[in-house]
This record gives sequence, structure tokens and C-alpha cells, in this order.
Amino acid sequence: MAAVERVFQSGWLGMGSVVKEFEDAVADFLGARYVVATSTGTAALHLALDSIGLKPGDEVIVPSITYVATAQAVTATGAVPVFCDVEEDTLNIDLSDAESKITEKTRAIVPVHYRGMPCDMDGLFKLAHDYNLRVVEDAAHAFGSYYRGRRIGSFGDLTCFSFDPVKNVTCGEGGAIALSDAEFMGLLQRKRILGIDRDTWSRYHDKRSWVYDVTTQGYRYHMSNINAAIGLVQLKKYDRLNSRKISIAKVYDEEFAKLKKIELLRTDYDGLSLFIYVVKVREGRDRLMRFLEGEGIGTGIHYIPCHLFSFYGRNRAKLPVAEKIYEQILTLPLYPDMSDEDVERVISAVKKWE
Ligand SMILES: Cc1ncc(COP(=O)(O)O)c(C=O)c1O
Repeated sequence: MAAVERVFQSGWLGMGSVVKEFEDAVADFLGARYVVATSTGTAALHLALDSIGLKPGDEVIVPSITYVATAQAVTATGAVPVFCDVEEDTLNIDLSDAESKITEKTRAIVPVHYRGMPCDMDGLFKLAHDYNLRVVEDAAHAFGSYYRGRRIGSFGDLTCFSFDPVKNVTCGEGGAIALSDAEFMGLLQRKRILGIDRDTWSRYHDKRSWVYDVTTQGYRYHMSNINAAIGLVQLKKYDRLNSRKISIAKVYDEEFAKLKKIELLRTDYDGLSLFIYVVKVREGRDRLMRFLEGEGIGTGIHYIPCHLFSFYGRNRAKLPVAEKIYEQILTLPLYPDMSDEDVERVISAVKKWE
């Protein structure tokens, strides 16, 4: 509250010096060369996809198990999302299925680090290299996760994060793109603010420039000082909150591994920023969901496979793993402020059901 109050007292609520401070702090945290903050994670994805010059009819490979924001960001550019299947044990993109869906129209691939567990990025970059594809990472779940000793966002092409209210680091609402190409950063900065050529620099100094040119199609996707101030405070809490989530998840794993009807996903906790705790229920997922609701325990389903939505031509593609696991996945409560008793209550309720 104090950080937000300081922004109010400064009188500069929109994009300004606090956004620059947040971008620098995020770049430092990730080990990224550049960070461009945006209003939401969806805006970050759209901005990144738009900036690589997608045209109507171009194809972009997207795993079907993701939040619909990933697919919407693709269609917002006029390009076509081509959905591919996921790995059965991690629900991350299945690279061999992705490869089978590449055509001469394919321009980009959007891996989603589901739950925060990084995808096989070596395999993915090899695929992208072999077929000359851009890689726009949807790292909305993976802010802070390491892949082979480096944080997601510190390497790669364009990596998009979300800082929405439920994410491990939140700005209230917010997003960011991490990248290493200076020229591209300039393009993203202009596109972020209506294509105006010099607004970012002026606003970083809490000023506006009244004489400017507009050099490209742009959007109003910038972050405000208010959201950046929240993000700066939350960033400092990341380690503590993530450690607590990981220790709860490990207790869950130990207990649920004993149950016949529950199957755990493959999780490598080393260097993981864990967003959600998901299990597969071998049979009766909906019954378990209703049972837990009756016990006062809220659960979720992440996600309805995108290829099943009517907007995306419902069922046009057959993705057997995504369709099967959609019947099985269940997200159990995982919050840093859960007490040990809360955790125990969830475990006992699941055991009681089984
Ligand atoms: C996988 C994934 N991609 C993109 C987004 C979009 O982020 P935002 O809510 O900040 O727009 C989310 C948000 O939940 C997400 O889970």
C-alpha cells in the first residue's frame, strides 16, 4: 500500500519511472538483457506475436492444453493457431506432434511451460532452427523457473510473462516480454504505446513528448506506475512464497502417491517456480470435484483443450492425449498462505473420497 501511495503522491500514475524500475528489477532477477513491461500477459503475447510480422493465413503451433489467452493472442494477429498435443506426464508441448503439424505456412511455435515446469527447450530450439520458426514462449506460469541452470526468459527468442492477480509474482495486472535483441526491443516499446516513436523514453522520465511520429501499428499495452509499484514489492517475496508452495506440493506428492485413483504428474522441483498443483484422477474426476466442493475445498481444471472450443473449429484436430487428460486433470488448492492444517484437510478429504 505504501508503494502505491508513493505513486499517487508523485502524481504520475501511468507509465513512468516506476515501470522502468520494475523492468530493470525483472531483467536483473531473470538475468535477461531487456524486459518490456505490458498491461497483461495476454498483451505481452499479442505484442510479441504481432512484432514478428505474422500475417493472416500464417500458422502458429500452440499446445492445446493452455489458457485460451495463448490462442487468442495468435488469432488477434490474423494468424491461425494450429493446435498440437501434449506430453502425457508433464502436459507440456509434445515436440514430435508439433513437428508433424509444421507446414510451409508455419512461422512460429508457442511453447507453454505448464505449471511452471520448463518444456524441453533444447529440443524446441532445434525444431525451430530446423524449420526456421520464431519461438514466442508463453511463460505465464514460469516466472522464476530455471532450465538447465538459467532462468526462463534469460535465453531464447521472445519470452512472455504474466503478473495477473493469481500469479507467483503479481502487479495486480501486468505482463512482460524478455528478450536480448536491442532493435526488437525498440519495436516492442513503440508497438506497446500506439506506435509512437519517442514516448517510452519521455515517460520513463515522467514526462510526455508532444511532438512525435507514429511509425508502426501499435496498441495501448503499456504498464502503469501503480502496477509496477505493486510488482516491485511482490518480486521481493518471490523466494519465500515459492518455497512454501513447493513444500506443500511435496507433501501432497508423498501422500497422493499412495492412492490408487490418483496419478501424479512428472515434476522436477529443482529450480522450479510452481504455479499450480495438478493431479490426474484415473476415474471419477468430476465426482471427486463435487465431493471436495461438498467439503468446502475449491478445485479447478487447467485447462479445457483449446481445440475443443467452437471458435477454434471444435474437434477439427484430433489430439488424443489432450482429450484424454482433460477428463482426468484436477487442480488442488496451492497457496503460500495455506496452513499445515489446510494442507492436511485437503489430503484427508481426497483420501476419504478414494
Ligand atoms: C498459460 C497462460 N498464458 C497466458 C495468460 C494470460 O495472462 P494475463 O492473465 O496476464 O493476460 C495466462 C493467465 O492466466 C496463462 O495462464
